[in-house]
Amino acid sequence: MDILIVEGNGPLSGTVPISGSKNAALPILIASLLMDGSVNYTNVPRLRDIGTTLKLLEVLGCPAEMDDAGNVIANPCEIAYQAPYELVRTMRASALCLGPLLARLGRASVALPGGCAIGARPVDMHLTALEKMGATFNLDAGYIEGVTDGLKGAHIAFPFPTVGGTENLLMAASLAEGTTILENAAREPEVCDLAEFLIQGGAKITGHGTSEITIEGVSELRQPKGASYRIMSDRIEAGTYLAAACITRGEVLIQNCPVDSMEAVLAPFEEMGAKLEEREDGLFVSAADRLKCVDVKTLPYPGFPTDMQAQIMAVMTLAEGSGVIEETIFENRFMHVQELVRMGARIKLSGRTAVVRGVEALTGAPVMASDLRASASLVVAALAAHGVTAIRRIYHLDRGYENIDAKLNALGAKVRREQE
Ligand code: EPZ
Repeated sequence: MDILIVEGNGPLSGTVPISGSKNAALPILIASLLMDGSVNYTNVPRLRDIGTTLKLLEVLGCPAEMDDAGNVIANPCEIAYQAPYELVRTMRASALCLGPLLARLGRASVALPGGCAIGARPVDMHLTALEKMGATFNLDAGYIEGVTDGLKGAHIAFPFPTVGGTENLLMAASLAEGTTILENAAREPEVCDLAEFLIQGGAKITGHGTSEITIEGVSELRQPKGASYRIMSDRIEAGTYLAAACITRGEVLIQNCPVDSMEAVLAPFEEMGAKLEEREDGLFVSAADRLKCVDVKTLPYPGFPTDMQAQIMAVMTLAEGSGVIEETIFENRFMHVQELVRMGARIKLSGRTAVVRGVEALTGAPVMASDLRASASLVVAALAAHGVTAIRRIYHLDRGYENIDAKLNALGAKVRREQE
């Protein structure tokens, strides 16, 4: 198994290109199952989770190919209804197949995703909403078995603005009979990117980006001839490089940075003292002086994203003063805290709140990644630590960061992989 070796090497400088968004590409690729005719995508990031999604599409009768430039062609043909445990257990987003399969086939069999490091992450809200549209479910041998004799439009009020639930229902309702209203829907930019892709294929969707989305079902979805769909840039990857630039007191241009969807991410970094300048080709970040801690609370979009919580915590470990970080989305998303403490950070945990007291320096140490964003926070901390940090279980990192070693080394970092 690979270990990532990071040697603190002073301020980062230069330009980093941001890839396509993992959390937009996953549902958009899965939406191929709804389409008639082949579908073309560009700017798809080369990540482990994308590889898993392409395998899943293959198993579901929608073979898809990807080239080295991030172009994907998917060919939905004989759609099958079962998403196997072997694939679902490696990627929870497989549960997003439920809506498209029920809408297309009237039947779906998807392995129930297990828990994950950051929380229980049930899919009850997805199922309750699909039941409102006329599906019935039972759990059999670890599989969610769903059937319907045709999904029908309904008024659905989510108890919480679930991202995955909104995406599943957007896809299901696009091919359902009648009109569906999603109330308290998620407003994340990735949800909007999915809606725009479906609209390109002929779906009738309005209100995406707000808490109330209306979908008028249509009988067929088809990408216009010769068209392709460009996946949006990854705002969490961009935020991670922002954190890396800040903690090393560097100067970095973040190319293709989706600034418009990052207001809640950029605001606390500016409050901490980072200088941010929007330029034609990206966001220029400089952080020459020591930053100051601030308080942060994770919230659904347009609030501060939970997927940036670990990275901003890492930056605060070396900032002046103290800051309170409250995690309101997931019940167990502080696995990185003890690993940062191993590097000399001062962080006190109590329930879903962490109090970070900035220290003068971090020291490299052997640490363990527990999930995708926790691993990103360990990389960020290691870039500014004295000495060498060895990060184990970095397969988590490869799920969501394209070419992270090469991108960081191009900014002057010292990052390499070693076999355990
Ligand atoms: C998406 O997960 C993202 N994943 C997550 O990013 C992100 O952290 C999350 O949204 C919140 O922004 C992808 O897009 C693939 P939710 P999702 O449904 O859809 C509870 C990363 O690091 N809930 O909005 O699973 C749930 O347990 C990943 O890239 C239910 O209780 O998030 C959680 O506490 C990690 N029942 C909260 O709601 C349900 O049926 C938010 O979940 C659904 C959700």
